Amino acid sequence: MSFLVVSPGKDPKAWVEALKNQHPGLNVYVYPEDHDKEEVEFALSWNHPRGIFQNYPNLKVVASMGAGVDHITSDKELPENIKITKVVDDRLEEDMGTFVLSLVLAHQRNLLEYREKQINEKWEPVSYTRNDQVKVGILGIGNLGQSVSKCLLKNGFQVRGFSKNKKDFDHVESFAGEDEFDDFLEQSDILVNMLPLTAETEKILNKELFEKLPKDAYVINVARGEHLVEQDLLAKIDDGHLSGAALDVFWEEPIRPEHPFWKHPKIRVTPHVASVTHPESVVPQIIENYERMKEEEELKNLVKRDRGY
Ligand code: GLV
Repeated sequence: MSFLVVSPGKDPKAWVEALKNQHPGLNVYVYPEDHDKEEVEFALSWNHPRGIFQNYPNLKVVASMGAGVDHITSDKELPENIKITKVVDDRLEEDMGTFVLSLVLAHQRNLLEYREKQINEKWEPVSYTRNDQVKVGILGIGNLGQSVSKCLLKNGFQVRGFSKNKKDFDHVESFAGEDEFDDFLEQSDILVNMLPLTAETEKILNKELFEKLPKDAYVINVARGEHLVEQDLLAKIDDGHLSGAALDVFWEEPIRPEHPFWKHPKIRVTPHVASVTHPESVVPQIIENYERMKEEEELKNLVKRDRGY
């Protein structure tokens, strides 16, 4: 019985080391090195080449290296019987919370604008709204969204959460379902997208949605690039409806050199760093699931394949 690590474009070394430290007997192969495909029952993966898993006749589980699983679920050739797991990790949640809080505060206190002014040697104070006057809407309030909401609440922001089904969190006003979507948007001075990427949520950040946000709303995307219609965002910032955006994820990563986001004065670009999985912290749950698979027990953090997250 063997374990396969597949992460083209991402150095697997730290993962392999953590796996071997925490489970010394584990037989780990790193794709695409030579290995016997029949032996592999469990794969740990990030952006695997499409279709490869159908060549592993005994593969039972594909575990994502991160919280998102769209890189696995989008593979139409992934055999139906294979289970998918995601990462749920305190460290990932804390990092997401502090990252989004930093972006919200930087926007709120005009830090990007001051940077521009500094470059132009301009000493020009601008007014600001206090945190308790600002409503932040979290679109997709799962584990990561809850952590973000806690950080924002601690800093005095008013927090709203939108999810498919109503969820109750202390001090977070909850909106759910299509009927409440517009109300949620109308009340989001800052919209933070934290949705999983599915066929339903792709391109959800589009012109129609932006127009429902209040004038001068700010958009933060820390989920997936495919949620965003880039031209619609540019148009709505350039026509003055939105005050700007902070984007951590993109359709194509890295974005091309001539991409209009790079130099846009109202768009902040970061290179997919909102919350980065730390192998040492996550490997225990991967190994636990490997053991559970062997014992035919229920896996932790299992993804519902029909809903895609
Ligand atoms: C990062 O994007 C993740 O899904 O963990």
